Amino acid sequence: MKELDRGAEATISVDGDVVLKDRVKKSYRLNEIDDKLRKFRTRREAKVLNKLEELNFPAPRLHAMCDKLMQLRMDMVQGNKLRDVLYQNPVVLSEELGKKIGIMHTNDIIHGDLTTSNMILDNEIKFIDFGLSFFSAKEEDKAVDLHLLRQALESKHYDIWEKCFEAALKGYKQGNSDSSVVLDRLKQVEARGRNKAKF
Ligand SMILES: Nc1ncnc2c1ncn2[C@@H]1O[C@H](COP(=O)(O)OP(=O)(O)O)[C@@H](O)[C@H]1O
Ligand SMILES: [Mg+2]
Repeated sequence: MKELDRGAEATISVDGDVVLKDRVKKSYRLNEIDDKLRKFRTRREAKVLNKLEELNFPAPRLHAMCDKLMQLRMDMVQGNKLRDVLYQNPVVLSEELGKKIGIMHTNDIIHGDLTTSNMILDNEIKFIDFGLSFFSAKEEDKAVDLHLLRQALESKHYDIWEKCFEAALKGYKQGNSDSSVVLDRLKQVEARGRNKAKF
């Protein structure tokens, strides 16, 4: 197996068209807490990947999970991180990702870490990294998910983020027929963020 990438949480190695995601120990966390957290996130990611497969959602298919070794095996998604290719077609790609987030939210799946490093452009945009995901029907959780997307776009794509976020929300409305309550809530979440910044 050859190491492919290293995220904040895990090392990713590849064997043919299979990826091994290995959640590594974090020495800055207390041992016991670290074990619990890694186990919880490994299980959670497996659970969400299985649900997404049922829904035929563009994400890697899970092959195996081991919560002793804190490892997942899944499909290798070919292509570039959206982070590196978004600028090539920002509006069209953002609308696509927004629509897909809408579909996720329609199914009450909150991604929890919507950055363009957690999206890969294959023939279409596929989503990865569901370790912080959870199931929720609350508009607050969905609005916060969108707010995190906005912050990720602002920080990594500062020159195009506004048109990207606008296009993502346009797509979101197509993907989620209940979008209006979430988008209203998003306004409140953003107002809260601005107030926090003042103090
Ligand atoms: N199934 C996959 N197919 C292709 N690349 C992947 C896959 N899973 C992870 N990667 C690559 O490894 C990086 C880190 O994986 P990720 O699941 O995001 O871990 P972390 O939780 O540490 O961020 C990703 O940004 C991506 O480049
Ligand atoms: Mg990641």
